[in-house]
Amino acid sequence: MTTVIKNGTVVTADLTYKADVLVDKGKIVEIGPDLKGDETLDATGCYVMPGGIDPHTHLEMPFMGTYSTDDFESGTRAALSGGTTMVVDFALPAPGQGLLDAIQMWSNKSTKANCDYSYHMAITWWGEQVFDEMETVVKDKGITTFKHFMAYKGALMVNDDEMFASFQRCKELGALPLVHAENGDIVADLQARLMAEGNDGPEAHAYSRPPAVEGEATNRAIMIADMAGVPLYVVHTSCEEAHEAIRRARMQGKRVWGEPLIQHLTLDESEYFNKDWDHAARRVMSPPFRNKQHQDSLWAGLQSGSLSVVATDHCAFTTEQKRYGVGDFTKIPNGTGGLEDRMPMLWTYGVATGRLTPNEFVAVTSTNIAKILNCYPKKGAILVGADADIVVWDPNKEKTISADAQQSAIDYNVFEGKHVKGLPRFTLTRGQVAVIDGEVTTQEGHGEFVARDPVNPVNAALSTWKELTAPRKVERTGIPASGV
Ligand code: URP
Ligand code: ZN
Ligand code: ZN
Repeated sequence: MTTVIKNGTVVTADLTYKADVLVDKGKIVEIGPDLKGDETLDATGCYVMPGGIDPHTHLEMPFMGTYSTDDFESGTRAALSGGTTMVVDFALPAPGQGLLDAIQMWSNKSTKANCDYSYHMAITWWGEQVFDEMETVVKDKGITTFKHFMAYKGALMVNDDEMFASFQRCKELGALPLVHAENGDIVADLQARLMAEGNDGPEAHAYSRPPAVEGEATNRAIMIADMAGVPLYVVHTSCEEAHEAIRRARMQGKRVWGEPLIQHLTLDESEYFNKDWDHAARRVMSPPFRNKQHQDSLWAGLQSGSLSVVATDHCAFTTEQKRYGVGDFTKIPNGTGGLEDRMPMLWTYGVATGRLTPNEFVAVTSTNIAKILNCYPKKGAILVGADADIVVWDPNKEKTISADAQQSAIDYNVFEGKHVKGLPRFTLTRGQVAVIDGEVTTQEGHGEFVARDPVNPVNAALSTWKELTAPRKVERTGIPASGV
């Protein structure tokens, strides 16, 4: 059965034009005027855009003594409801666990997915097994991105020597390293100090992770990546210090991408000073929300192109889970939701305010990351042959965000009460209509894994630090006798 999307305006990362879009067997088969299909979706007054790609989710992830509550079913249902048609989740090996084992665990969970998905592999420890299995992960499993946590000391954190070894391995394999950039040693020190001083509430979470710890780690990761000769993708860039390091690197010709989150763009640190403990704890995530100057910096980065992708880091914990940290802020599970709200919030606060054009919106929610992750134009495109992951976006449709009406399984929403204008009229996942004017008609298990080829075969040319790969030994005469 064919489906035609009629009377809409196609908006891609680089073009805006009137056309109908014909879909057959999960693919876009024709774009043009006056197309006919078995089923018609009326897009009058709407933009026909590539479905969103959220490259940063943690669905049913074991973390801080519990599991994030949204799984691949509720998480991808929430995604589709908000116009996102693909998520990239992190396969997270426990310390000492093999990478292939972790993929198996994630594959068991993702059978429930309502939309397509891919994985990043986290490097949570280092050893011969990890080194060896990285090759299989890239060449046989279609996972070409490796995440490194520079924070969460004693749990997920890797040290510089491990990171450098892993980055070099990424280079050999044509893979792309990702970093969670915060200086974990300093965070641990500040956490201990704050607790010792009796600062045990959620606001201390923000004090323990100031912008400097993120700026330092971002800069360090960029330098280490440069020495290894690999590009770098910095997840959840939240502040000017980190953005500044990314901006500088890009101006020097380094391949570095920064990913702000919709939460950091639209919510600020005042949330942690709310008198209600639950309110503040529900917003505990790392890096924490920042002040307005940092928000302005992130918006400017999206506008100027120094920041490339807007994600969510969707890692949703219930209020009950957040309460594990009553009396000790370091035990509040870190993470917030956002999958369902990323696109409407970005449209409302980005496009409707004039900060971003509709084309830039498509670029930062979909096309840029599809290119970075090497799944473009299968994903992130309105082109003949592309997957029919499409959102028919109604710029005049409005709602007030409320946990009562959300798809996510948690009991609150960090955007509660925000009024958004710009919502999906239809969301299609590989041709299947999953959202019709607010009604969610998803099909559990419809989602497929998206395998990706290595991203950067030209890595070797990228390093600006040539000395490391071409050391020159000085031939000396008259070497003095050893002193021992
Ligand atoms: O607080 C956060 N961001 N939780 C999820 C794990 C991570 O650091 O990405
Ligand atoms: Zn992180
Ligand atoms: Zn994350």
